[in-house]
Amino acid sequence: MGAYAEAHARSLADPEGFWGEAAAGIGWEEPFSRALDGSNPPFFRWFAGGVLNTCHNAVDRHVDAGRGDQVALVYDSPVTGVVRRYTFRELRDEVARVAGGLRSLGVERGDRVIIYMPMIPEAVISMLACARIGAVHSVVFGGFAAKELATRVDDAKPRVILSASCGLEASRVVAYKPLLDRALEIASHRPERCVIRQRPQAEAALVPGRDLDWETVMADAEPAPCVPVAATDPLYILYTSGTTGVPKGVVRDNGGHAVALRWSMEHIYDVRPGEVYWAASDVGWVVGHSYIVYAPLLHGCTTVLYEGKPVGTPDAGAFWRVVADHGVSVMFTAPTALRAIKQQDPEGRLVGGYDLSRFRTLFLAGERCDPDTLGWAQDKLRVPVIDHWWQTETGWAIAANCLGIEALPVKPGSAGVPAPGYDVQILNPEGQPLPADQIGTITIRLPLPPGNLPTLWQNDGGFISSYLERYPGYYLTGDAGYRDPDGYLWIMSRIDDIINVAGHRLSTGAMEEVLASHPAVAECAVIGVADRLKGQVPVGFVVLKQGVDRPETDIVAELVAMVRDRIGPVAAFKQASVVTRLPKTRSGKILRGTMRQIADGEQWNTPATIDDPTSLDEVGRALAALGFPEDPAPQARP
Ligand code: COA
Ligand code: AMP
Repeated sequence: MGAYAEAHARSLADPEGFWGEAAAGIGWEEPFSRALDGSNPPFFRWFAGGVLNTCHNAVDRHVDAGRGDQVALVYDSPVTGVVRRYTFRELRDEVARVAGGLRSLGVERGDRVIIYMPMIPEAVISMLACARIGAVHSVVFGGFAAKELATRVDDAKPRVILSASCGLEASRVVAYKPLLDRALEIASHRPERCVIRQRPQAEAALVPGRDLDWETVMADAEPAPCVPVAATDPLYILYTSGTTGVPKGVVRDNGGHAVALRWSMEHIYDVRPGEVYWAASDVGWVVGHSYIVYAPLLHGCTTVLYEGKPVGTPDAGAFWRVVADHGVSVMFTAPTALRAIKQQDPEGRLVGGYDLSRFRTLFLAGERCDPDTLGWAQDKLRVPVIDHWWQTETGWAIAANCLGIEALPVKPGSAGVPAPGYDVQILNPEGQPLPADQIGTITIRLPLPPGNLPTLWQNDGGFISSYLERYPGYYLTGDAGYRDPDGYLWIMSRIDDIINVAGHRLSTGAMEEVLASHPAVAECAVIGVADRLKGQVPVGFVVLKQGVDRPETDIVAELVAMVRDRIGPVAAFKQASVVTRLPKTRSGKILRGTMRQIADGEQWNTPATIDDPTSLDEVGRALAALGFPEDPAPQARP
């Protein structure tokens, strides 16, 4: 048996022994009594009885161990022209001061703090400061609209919100503060304070009695020490798209998270303490939480916080410039970023202008990596390019090529093999395991390994109904795919109405809720359509109420503006069509699957249960007018 197969088998046969050993990579204030507490299934708890502090493990511990002068965080911001480095010692002192600032505002262990910030060092420092005092952070991505922020405020009920006056996109300044003000008008929960980091590109007006200036609060704050917390205490809540307009509050604990993430740096990414690791993502997403902030720091690596884009800041060589300037060894990004680079620099000429001698491996996740993009990156960068598959819920890779255990051959189009800790099962609708090469629902047999969500925020029932009810004893990933005879996983599609736009997870159901609220709309459907750059983009179809007699172009423009206003620019909802009827079965179910097949140029058959076959022709004409399918050839299964 190879080293990978052995590690995987052992992790399933003896999870307590396997993760109990991994726990030695973390500093504990008090040892845990059992690695895995399975006394209350389907709820499992890792390292119950253990006491630790995540910030201590990510920052202070490295100073104590002699890494104080090593750079911990590099902030590289082509949009402002700033590069700033923090050593572990400087990071500790900054984090302790901000933790003290939060304390001075009354934030205590267990209180929630929403962080609504762009990619500035204060975002990372704020997360670690919350961890330091046992407060629970919830970071909200800047590309969401005020209403999305309001939903999260009402669910998390933060005592304090930390924000900034603006974010900087390549082409525009995004004023965050008006979005925050609007969100707090919509929300029913009232935070006691909002602390605003002013940025010179757009200073914000402060609301007297509620808003405070970051500098004023933090300047004289008394540094706060690390507060020991239970391994099972929540470290953060991260909201992610569900199948409705209400996002799910994924909870992460302290102990399992620290153990799994540190372990993953060594065994999946094969990176050593002291090396530079860069995840080109955003702190608002799970990749940012796990691999910009926590995992690299827990492992004593230098992490890079990049406030820029793969293209346009200033060109398609930006990623390679960052890798060269900071001596990055291992990098992580989304395939869509590579497609954007490839579109502008197909020959990879800009790669040659940089010294990439320390660059060892590129990891990709967030969406399926098409073999063309993988091949292009391998060819131009001349390093292994590893696709790996995970979700906000799991916090780290379910499937990967664990380079620190055993480098397996790369199969382009596959997300690799199940990582240790994950008992991945492909099931048919009756819950029976499927043989190799047959597509089914991808599930993980319980218990989930450490670092995975223990529950949803104050919603145990929602945790069960969303993930555990469909197949008792298994966690439903929401993805469909198959395992090949060599044990590699091929992640092909979602089984729900979640789509993946430029590596961002979005709910078409949430977009339909917005369209349905337009006064002229009787019925609507939103589908994800294959897009060369972004992987998928949403396209809407609406049927108007009888008697509506307004130009369709005006209505479509209003629908586009509504989705941008209520969900945010990140939804990239730019196209919609008015049709006379939606394709439906005789029982009234909208045939979204067939609509998507038409949009993607796949082979499709008229469903036998269809109510009116001409409705599909109309959808086909509407899609053609919008320029779909982009590539008429069906996506071949390898
Ligand atoms: N704050 C405010 N607005 C944001 C934002 C943020 N943090 N992030 C994105 N937006 C806006 C963009 O400005 C854009 O607005 P526009 O409609 O006015 O142009 C919109 O949201 C859509 O953004 P995006 O999907 O990112 O498209 P893009 O055309 O700006 O860039 C890529 C395309 C491929 C370069 C970009 O999507 C990218 O870098 N993707 C990588 C994704 C990633 O890292 N995912 C994390 C998982 S690993
Ligand atoms: P998120 O929770 O935003 O990280 O999105 C998770 C979803 O993105 C998964 O359930 C998949 O649908 C998709 N995804 C992430 N990584 C991959 C990958 N490597 N291959 C295929 N799909 C992926």
